[in-house]
Amino acid sequence: MAGQGRSLYAEHIAARQRTTEAALAECGYDALVLSSGAPFTYFADDQEPPFHENGHFAHWVPLRGPHHVLVLRPGAKPRLVRVAPEDYWYEQAPLGSPFWADDFDLQEVGTIEAAWKLGLDGKRVAYIGDETARALAAGIAGEHHNPAALVARLDWERAYKSEYEVACMDEAETIAAWGHRAALSAFDHGASELEIHHAYLAAVRCTEAELPYPTIIGHDEKGAILHYTGKRAQRNGRVLLIDAGARHLGYCSDITRTWTRKECDSRFRALVKGMDELQLKLCERVVPGLPYPDLHAAAHVMIGNLLHEVGVLKIAGDEAFDAGLTSPFFPHGLGHFLGIQVHDVGGRQKDPSGGLLPPPPKSPYLRTTRKIEEHQVFTIEPGCYFIEMLLRPHRNGGKADCFDWKLIDELSEFGGVRIEDNVLVTASGHRNLTRPHI
Ligand code: GLY
Ligand code: MN
Ligand code: MN
Repeated sequence: MAGQGRSLYAEHIAARQRTTEAALAECGYDALVLSSGAPFTYFADDQEPPFHENGHFAHWVPLRGPHHVLVLRPGAKPRLVRVAPEDYWYEQAPLGSPFWADDFDLQEVGTIEAAWKLGLDGKRVAYIGDETARALAAGIAGEHHNPAALVARLDWERAYKSEYEVACMDEAETIAAWGHRAALSAFDHGASELEIHHAYLAAVRCTEAELPYPTIIGHDEKGAILHYTGKRAQRNGRVLLIDAGARHLGYCSDITRTWTRKECDSRFRALVKGMDELQLKLCERVVPGLPYPDLHAAAHVMIGNLLHEVGVLKIAGDEAFDAGLTSPFFPHGLGHFLGIQVHDVGGRQKDPSGGLLPPPPKSPYLRTTRKIEEHQVFTIEPGCYFIEMLLRPHRNGGKADCFDWKLIDELSEFGGVRIEDNVLVTASGHRNLTRPHI
């Protein structure tokens, strides 16, 4: 990252310093220690899942790997201790000269113990991370580990993306779009779920472990399993639902497309086209000041209207939503904050101090209940699926006549539709980060 990118990063760090100093002052601390975290090891095993750095650490610096320590104090240059042991089991690549190095008082140590020599005696210190035994041994009392009031303030700030973060996310969109285009081409040529997965990985030029989440690649009926991660070998699916992202400098994209081949039922194809159009209409409604749950409710009504047009529901969208008849088709939230984590923090916060806004009772899975504001980045991902376990109670329910069950049974083999874009909230509306690419 050179030139303008470098100055964007310097601004990002200056903003982190400001917001962290304010949060420390409000919570009565003199210093904050963050660590990148410890790897998780499976029970009675020596194997680990892919390592994800502590999000609060990654908010400061895109230094990969476990056990690094960052010490933050008001008015002082952030002190970053990189753990770089001599090791012949795993590669310990030299740091080189990353674009961010000058923004830190940077030190390299050979052991984790050395990284925890904090030099903060007599200070009121908070620790955020999962290495609590090390923090305790370093003299930070347990009551100051992950203090809720401080974490809430930092989570709140993570919702407002700096220009540096948006630039990282733009790049993550570009990379994921290479994968999505390769996946579409493979699907058009009859590739299996497994082959599409491999085509995606080859195009984004990384390993599966480096993706923000496991790819969701379902042909036909598997599209109705929201987090389907099977990878079947059968070819020639008629529908492809692909939900896959990428990372750049720790920041994620999270994109879903649903494609059909000509062998797919024309009524299901109409549903896919209608979902794509209504997803764009939902993006157009994004504006600062709007509570995100209002957008979620609008999605239910629009999906209800589309199901009415296609003939699945015999009543209009608003009536269907009021009667709870859109939920079996759209059983997840419209979207979530996106950033360092694919389901980023702070989506249900009412205020910086940690008050929460619960999701509406009819939509317990909605992750974003916060008011929409400039600089937030979130997904808009309406879905419409044929999920028998959710439809079954309605087959003999009081409103059974509102559904065309024959049509539902005929369309069920095509699974479902989800269209997911990532949007940045601007002063007067939004910028769609995904659509320019795919
Ligand atoms: N890829 C997971 C999600 O869309 O939330
Ligand atoms: Mn998502
Ligand atoms: Mn997704």
